[in-house]
Amino acid sequence: MRRKIVVGNWKMFKTPSEALRDFNEFVEISGALWDRVDLGIAAPAVSLPGMAALRTNGVAVHSQNSHWEKEGAFTGELSVGMLKDLNVRGSVIGHSERRQYFAETNATAGKRVGALLRAGLESIFCIGETLAERERGDLKKVLRAQLVEGFEAAGLHNASDVIGADANRPLLSIAYEPVWAIGTGKAATPVEAQEAHAFVREVLGEIFGADCASRLRILYGGSVNPANATSFMSCPDVDGALVGGASLKPVAFVELCQKAQ
Ligand code: 13P
Repeated sequence: MRRKIVVGNWKMFKTPSEALRDFNEFVEISGALWDRVDLGIAAPAVSLPGMAALRTNGVAVHSQNSHWEKEGAFTGELSVGMLKDLNVRGSVIGHSERRQYFAETNATAGKRVGALLRAGLESIFCIGETLAERERGDLKKVLRAQLVEGFEAAGLHNASDVIGADANRPLLSIAYEPVWAIGTGKAATPVEAQEAHAFVREVLGEIFGADCASRLRILYGGSVNPANATSFMSCPDVDGALVGGASLKPVAFVELCQKAQ
């Protein structure tokens, strides 16, 4: 049985003081929910030191990017070592906004994921099709390419590479986020999500073996809110959610996270 995981992606919202205030509130009102559901917040880089210093290990702090090189002349990037030093648990990688506006590719995203996992950090690797790709009937082709090219670039081929030390909390998670559902209020239907997730698990099985694929968590993202969260969480291959807008207000986000129990 896979444990559910819900992660808020705060994108480029909140100053560091607002982030710290809201993170504290979320940790407080979510109580012991982390005992039943893996919880996390992916925050802007400047907010990470303050949030991670709270050492709320029940609620993980994630970054929204990290580079594959150990260090070097890469202005604007963050290294895995920097994140580790702060007690940041992992990073959201390959988000469609990075792909759309900052030229992230399957190959660069994959290299980022590879470096994180090799250092024992977690990674939520985001994939998903555009509306045009879906309407062309290319859903499976796009998802397969994102996974295969990503893991090829990552240099990740074995189950042990992606699971890590704790089989109940694999280092790798996948977030299926159809681009047309992000920030639009038009979520995929649970049937569409389940269909895509089952396919993603099938491809993960081809790459890492069926046993590994059955352990990896696949999160749905795209207009998830407290009202529709249960319908996603009850799909057999949906193991949680990556949440944008509905993660910004602590009370509403706790309400959403409770649906994952
Ligand atoms: P929304 O929940 O605002 O649609 O954003 C989804 C997302 O991009 C999470 O990474």
